[in-house]
Amino acid sequence: MRNTVIFGNWKMNKNKKETLDFIKEVDKLVAKTNTVAGIGVPFIYLDEARKQAKNVNIIAQNCHFEASGAYTGEISIDMLKDINIDTVIIGHSERREYFNDTDADIAKKVKKLIDNNLTPVLCCGETLSQYENKETIAVVKKQLLENLSLIEKNNVEKVIIAYEPIWAIGTGKTATAEIAQNVCKEIRNIISENFGAKIADKVIIQYGGSVKPNNIAELISQPDIDGALVGGASLDPKSFLELL
Ligand code: 13P
Repeated sequence: MRNTVIFGNWKMNKNKKETLDFIKEVDKLVAKTNTVAGIGVPFIYLDEARKQAKNVNIIAQNCHFEASGAYTGEISIDMLKDINIDTVIIGHSERREYFNDTDADIAKKVKKLIDNNLTPVLCCGETLSQYENKETIAVVKKQLLENLSLIEKNNVEKVIIAYEPIWAIGTGKTATAEIAQNVCKEIRNIISENFGAKIADKVIIQYGGSVKPNNIAELISQPDIDGALVGGASLDPKSFLELL
């Protein structure tokens, strides 16, 4: 039985007071749900957010794969561990598109996170034109096989996979539950064929892209969708609690 895992990805939103007020409002209530809940807060608020949160997981939105060195503006996994962060979103389409995160870079991040016992939330997904050209599965397969290529087979179950069609992110166009289920099922098949059925059965697959309180129930009731990675609708505490 796989857990239901719902993470907010705040991206570059909220200031310090808003971050801490949000946690104050949701943290106790999160404990009353059966869902594994988390929020991806901006780097500079991670430490205080982590200290304040008892129930909601505080997760990072990125990391560098090198342990230290001359990488201006970057944050290492050791720095995240130092403030007790154990989960990191990587390979988000915005990182791939605006910051040139390549599949090879993402593979190194997955490996270093696993080596350090942190959980990668590995994002994958196709553009609108790839979707229209029916290339979704080929695109996602190429991303996943390359991104998972540096870790041992039996560590693949420790990775949370987030399927986020780029055409559905921030656009209000959610993939229908049927489309999302079909792709998540194919992702599970890809994991099964390449890493084994037992691992495929355990791996958590989230859907992301315009998930809202009014569409989440149908999405996560699908057999291969184990949760959601939510942008806009995770920013408001009431909406976040409704999602959970
Ligand atoms: P929206 O929920 O705002 O579409 O964002 C999805 C996303 O990118 C989460 O990582």
